Amino acid sequence: MNIVVSNVKGGVGKTTTPVYLVASAAAAGYDPVVLVDADRQASSAEWFEERPIELVELVEAPSERTVARAMSRQDGLVVVDTPPGDERIVRAALERADAVVIPTRAGGVEYSRVVATLEMVGDETPRGVVICAARLGTNDLEATIEWWTGQRVPIWGVVPERVGIASGPESRLYREGLDAYDAVLRRALRRRSR
Ligand SMILES: Nc1ncnc2c1ncn2[C@@H]1O[C@H](COP(=O)(O)OP(=O)(O)O)[C@@H](O)[C@H]1O
Ligand SMILES: [Mg+2]
Repeated sequence: MNIVVSNVKGGVGKTTTPVYLVASAAAAGYDPVVLVDADRQASSAEWFEERPIELVELVEAPSERTVARAMSRQDGLVVVDTPPGDERIVRAALERADAVVIPTRAGGVEYSRVVATLEMVGDETPRGVVICAARLGTNDLEATIEWWTGQRVPIWGVVPERVGIASGPESRLYREGLDAYDAVLRRALRRRSR
């Protein structure tokens, strides 16, 4: 099972999301859980070096060939962190995805980037957006939820903006973040069996 986390835009939560997803998966008993880092920059591998996650294996795969190989294993749960720019690597990962998680932010300027990402996802591949660093109770968030709902793109999660999540590998994974991403993981996996 390969879950690919992708958005052509950077700085949205593309690294935070896979890190929390693998932690949730390991806690839920998936074994093995593999975090594949296909991004050379500001990536999950750096996070992992600073703060490894128990029972999670890290594979660095910054090329089409290595990402394809990392995603070809038959067992376990693989979560892929993708680069914002390198379209060939992103496409190689998306082609092999069983589910695609698209992190995004609230706000109108973000939509076109998600649409560009969605266009690269196979028609049959389950996909959902995760609204990262969301400010709960704001009109911006409400409008964003309404917009995706109108576009018939499922919202697999709304992760609140929290200092404990923003601190990244400097501190332990944040409980509320783990809970939010646990729900995302369940949605990504459930849609596969339909
Ligand atoms: N739920 C959140 N609350 C607060 N900050 C967040 C949250 N999710 C992500 N961030 C922060 O947003 C920035 C971009 O996230 P990151 O995962 O590195 O995105 P990308 O990989 O897309 O560049 C980072 O500083 C990260 O800590
Ligand atoms: Mg990143």
